[in-house]
Amino acid sequence: YAGRDPSLASVMMGSHIDTVRTGGRLDGNLGVLAGLEVIAACQEQQFQPLRNLEVAFFTNEEGSRFPPDMMGSLVYAGALGLEEAKEKRDADGVSVGEELERLGLVGAASVPGPAPFAFVELHIEQGPLLDAHGESIGVVEAVQGISWQKLKLAGQSNHAGTTPIQMRRDAGLAASRIHLALHEIVMSLGDDMVGTVGHQTWHPNLVNVVPSQVELTIDLRSPLESQLKEAEAAFSEVCLQIARDCGVSLEAEQLVRLEPVTFDPRVVERIEKAAQRSGVSYRRMVSGAGHDAQVIGQMAPAGMIFVPSIAGVSHNPAEATSPDDLARGAQLLTDVVLELAECVSEDRL
Ligand code: HGY
Ligand code: MN
Ligand code: MN
Repeated sequence: YAGRDPSLASVMMGSHIDTVRTGGRLDGNLGVLAGLEVIAACQEQQFQPLRNLEVAFFTNEEGSRFPPDMMGSLVYAGALGLEEAKEKRDADGVSVGEELERLGLVGAASVPGPAPFAFVELHIEQGPLLDAHGESIGVVEAVQGISWQKLKLAGQSNHAGTTPIQMRRDAGLAASRIHLALHEIVMSLGDDMVGTVGHQTWHPNLVNVVPSQVELTIDLRSPLESQLKEAEAAFSEVCLQIARDCGVSLEAEQLVRLEPVTFDPRVVERIEKAAQRSGVSYRRMVSGAGHDAQVIGQMAPAGMIFVPSIAGVSHNPAEATSPDDLARGAQLLTDVVLELAECVSEDRL
């Protein structure tokens, strides 16, 4: 949506329109639809801000089929090569490039893309805080760090009835002990730390065969880089020990590693002031989920606005936010973005 001076860098809104396979309707989609609403409102009011307004919907933010997450914004920001991204393959060996071709979505624009003047992403909180405290808005100051690994354990398939326990090289036992060890490390490091085994495959996956191969994913997150590093070090040590105990080989592949990101205080401040002016109840907070804003924030001043997730549920079809809260979030996005779109230069940001 062209501004009065189209030569100036745009104010970008947006998010993603892909979801996890069992996701809800709001994760990502809200930020894109709200951005389109801001533009529709400007068109209806025949209002033209100084700067162009853009709505981005970044490809493959989730990363659960093709790691890494935030793939599209990483390529846009130049933090991941386009060819490297196109080469990423899913569990069936299908690549991102092949799928983009098949879907007719191979774009012509070159990457990295132009840096926006500022980027603001409206998103559901996906956690329990706002809903539990009865607040309508989250003013997001930072996004926690994230570490994804894929582990491959290889032992020996054998007869479940005849093979004595001491003779087994049981990849399934090793995987289960690793899962428990992850939980103990995370619990020992305190409330800020989270750790998840979300995906696990067993081979040959038969009731009467000692499993020979297990593949599992590890998702570790913390708002503190030092704590994330401590968890990773403790976890890799215990994995090696368990693999030795169980007589299995261990392969670990790092799929994603993003340090915690702090948003530009000037953008955070504008979001907070707009929330204060509108009288909505709000809190400053850190995002537990990863977002495109943490990537675009490496190339431009960025910030995020959260709306509550009812009962903190997300990555689940039951994901929901009250219509009033959705509207309050879209209104705040409008206020902040139209303010930013009148900034003549960055020092006025
Ligand atoms: O995993 C995440 O935090 C985000 O949903 N991609
Ligand atoms: Mn999302
Ligand atoms: Mn998500």
